Amino acid sequence: MLSQILKIIRLLGLRKAARMKKHHEQGLEFVRGYAATCCWWTLLNHGFLDKLAQNGSASLDTYAAQYGLQPDVLHALVEYLHGIGLLHYAPPLVRLSEKGKILLAEPRGLFELLWAYEPCFAALPDLLTRTKKYGRDLTRRITWVGLGSGRLCEQLPYPVLRRMILDRRCQMVLDLGCGDLALLAGLCRLNPKIRGHGVDCESDMVRYNQKLLAQNDFNRRLTVQQADIFHLPALPPDLPPIDCITACDTFHEYLGNQSVLIQLLQDLKKRFPNALFVIGEFCRQDPGWLLRHPTASLEHHLFHQLSGQPIGSAQQWRDLFRQAGLTILEEQIFDLIGHGYFALK
Ligand SMILES: C[S@@+](CC[C@H](N)C(=O)[O-])C[C@H]1O[C@@H](n2cnc3c(N)ncnc32)[C@H](O)[C@@H]1O
Repeated sequence: MLSQILKIIRLLGLRKAARMKKHHEQGLEFVRGYAATCCWWTLLNHGFLDKLAQNGSASLDTYAAQYGLQPDVLHALVEYLHGIGLLHYAPPLVRLSEKGKILLAEPRGLFELLWAYEPCFAALPDLLTRTKKYGRDLTRRITWVGLGSGRLCEQLPYPVLRRMILDRRCQMVLDLGCGDLALLAGLCRLNPKIRGHGVDCESDMVRYNQKLLAQNDFNRRLTVQQADIFHLPALPPDLPPIDCITACDTFHEYLGNQSVLIQLLQDLKKRFPNALFVIGEFCRQDPGWLLRHPTASLEHHLFHQLSGQPIGSAQQWRDLFRQAGLTILEEQIFDLIGHGYFALK
C-alpha cells in the first residue's frame, strides 16, 4: 500500500495528490448520502430494518427466501450499508450497528418525509423543463407525509400542542388534516377521558388510519373520517360536543389564498362556538439565521417549494388569526425548527 501511495505522490506531487483526495472526499459525502439513503429506504420500507431491531439479527438468505427477494440485490444493499457502517454483516448474519440504530430512532422521520417527497426529486428534470407539473402529473406520497411528520412532531410540536390542550381541560378534540392520528393518539394515551376525532381528505391516509384503529382505538375514544375540512360534513352523532379544534401543519397548504383560510376559521368558530383552537404551523425563519445554521429546515423548504406549499411568517399567522376574529391566548414560537404553536379562542 505504502509503495503505491509513494508512486502516486511521485506521479502527481504531494500537494496535488492530497488536494485531489480531499476534494474526492468532499464529493463523496453527497454521492454517498444519496446511495446510502436509497439503500436505507429500501430496507426500511420493506420492514427488514425493523425486524433487525426487534430480533437482533437476521440471516440474509433465510430472509430473502421467506419474502421471495432477489438474494443478490439484498446482499449488495447489506454489503454496502456494512461498508459505510450502518449494518454489521458477518455472513450469514446481519445486524444493526450503533450508527444504524440511531438512524432508526430520532432521524427516522426525516427519511420517511424524504421518501414522501421522493416523487418530486425523481421528476426534477421534468419539473424544471415544465414537462411535468406538481399536482397534475405527480404528488407526494401522502401516507408517508403523515408517518414522517407524525414521527418528527412527536419530538417537540406534539408535546407543546398536547400541553396547551390538556392544560385547558379539553375533552373532545377534532383534528383537521390528522395525518397518521399521532397527535390524537398521544392525547388518548395521556388522558383516559379525552376523545379524538381526526379528519383527512386523503383516502390512502384514512385507510391507513382505519388499519391502525383496528389494532387500538383506545376503547372507541379515537375515530377518523375522510373529509375535506373546507366542506366538513356532519360528524358522527355519538361524538360529544367539540371543545377543541387542532390543526398541525395543515393550513399552510392554503396560505396562497388567505381569504379561504380566514373564512374556514370563521365558519368553524360559528359551528363550534365553544371550541379552543390549537394550531401548529411552520413559521418562516430569518434567511440570515438559516444561512448560519443550515438545519433540516433547508430540506423542508425545498420539499415545500417543489410541491407548491407556501411558508408563512409568525406575524402572517397572527394577522390571519386576528382577521378571523380569534384571540391568541398562548403562543410559542421555536425559531430553531421554524415552527409556531398557538392556542386561540
Ligand atoms: C403535512 S400533513 C400533517 C399531518 C398531521 N397533522 C401531522 O401533524 O403530522 C397535512 C395533512 O393535511 C391533510 N389535508 C390537506 N388538505 C386537507 C383538506 N382540505 N381537508 C382535509 N385534510 C387535508 C393532508 O392529507 C395531510 O394528511
